[in-house]
Amino acid sequence: MTESTEKSTEESPAVSVPGTPADDETSKEIIYKRKAYRLEQEAKRKMLKTVKFEEKDKDDEIKLPKKKYYRQRAHSNPFSDHQLEYPKSPKDMNWDVLFPAILDDPTKKVTIADIGCGFGGLLMSLSPAFPDKCILGMEIRVQVTQFVEDKIIALRKKHADENAYNNIAVLRGNAMKFLPNFFEKGQLEKIFFCFPDPHFKSKKHKARIVTTTLCSEYAYVLKPGGIIYTITDVKDLHEWMVKHLDEHPLFERMSEDFEKNDTCAKIMYTDTEEGKKVARNEGDKFVACFKRLETPAEI
Ligand SMILES: C[S@@+](CC[C@H](N)C(=O)[O-])C[C@H]1O[C@@H](n2cnc3c(N)ncnc32)[C@H](O)[C@@H]1O
Repeated sequence: MTESTEKSTEESPAVSVPGTPADDETSKEIIYKRKAYRLEQEAKRKMLKTVKFEEKDKDDEIKLPKKKYYRQRAHSNPFSDHQLEYPKSPKDMNWDVLFPAILDDPTKKVTIADIGCGFGGLLMSLSPAFPDKCILGMEIRVQVTQFVEDKIIALRKKHADENAYNNIAVLRGNAMKFLPNFFEKGQLEKIFFCFPDPHFKSKKHKARIVTTTLCSEYAYVLKPGGIIYTITDVKDLHEWMVKHLDEHPLFERMSEDFEKNDTCAKIMYTDTEEGKKVARNEGDKFVACFKRLETPAEI
C-alpha cells in the first residue's frame, strides 16, 4: 500500500470574517502555521511509523499532537475517493508496517475494526481493554487519519516501558469499498460503527455506512458469533441501521442487557469524541448490537 498524494482540498476555513486585509493576514498566518506544524509531524511520522519502541527515551519530552492543526470539513463524500489505494487481496496487505511491535507473530491478525474512527478515541480506550487483540481504525479523511497516526506514535513512545498501544493502528481507506480486500472471510470478531455520518436527505441515504449490500460485506468479514456495534445520536439513522441489520438473514439483534452491559458497548457509549460531544450537549445516544449468525435465519 502506498500513501495517497492527494492534495488537501478539505482544509477547514480559518476562523475570521473575510474582507479586511487584517483578517486576510490573520487567516494566512493560521493556515501557514497549521501547514508548518503538519509538515513537521509528517517528517516525524515517516521516520517513526514503523518503529518498534523498546524503551522510553528519558530525555525526550513527548508531546501529543494537537487536534486543532488537523481539522477538516466534517463530511466527506464516500463516492469520491479516487486517490485511495487498496490491496488486491488480504494476502497483499502489509500489516507489519502498521503494527511493527506485535505482528512479528504471523498468527496475529486484526480482529477488531472501528469503521470511521474519526479522531480515534475508541481505539485508544479499546487498546488497554483488549491488549491481546489487534485493533484497526479505518478513516477516510486524510488529516484526521494523520492525527490518529501521530497520536498512536506519541502514545507508543510515551508508554514504551509498558509496551502499550502497539495493538492499535489506523488506516486511511473507504470502508464502503473493498473491505474484503483488507480482511479475509470471518477474520473479524467485532466491527464498530460509532456516530456514522447521518446523510439526512433521502437522496443521500445511499451514502450511509449501513445498507443491505454493505451488510452482506460485513457478514463476510465477520466471523459467526462476531458482533456489530452501532451507536448514533440521530434517531432516524438508528432506526435505519436497525431495520437493515434486522432484515439481513445473517444478523440477529442482541438483548438490551447486552447492549447496556457488554464491555465494548460501555466503552463505545462513553469514549468516542462524538459520544463525548453528545454527552456535553445532553443529547440522546441510541445503541444497537447485532450478532453474526452461523447460518442464515429464516425470515
Ligand atoms: C461523525 S464522525 C464519527 C467519528 C468517531 N467514530 C466518533 O464517534 O467520534 C464519522 C467519521 O466517519 C468517517 N467516514 C465517513 N465515511 C467513511 C467511509 N466510507 N470510510 C471510512 N471512514 C468514513 C468520517 O470521515 C468521520 O471521521
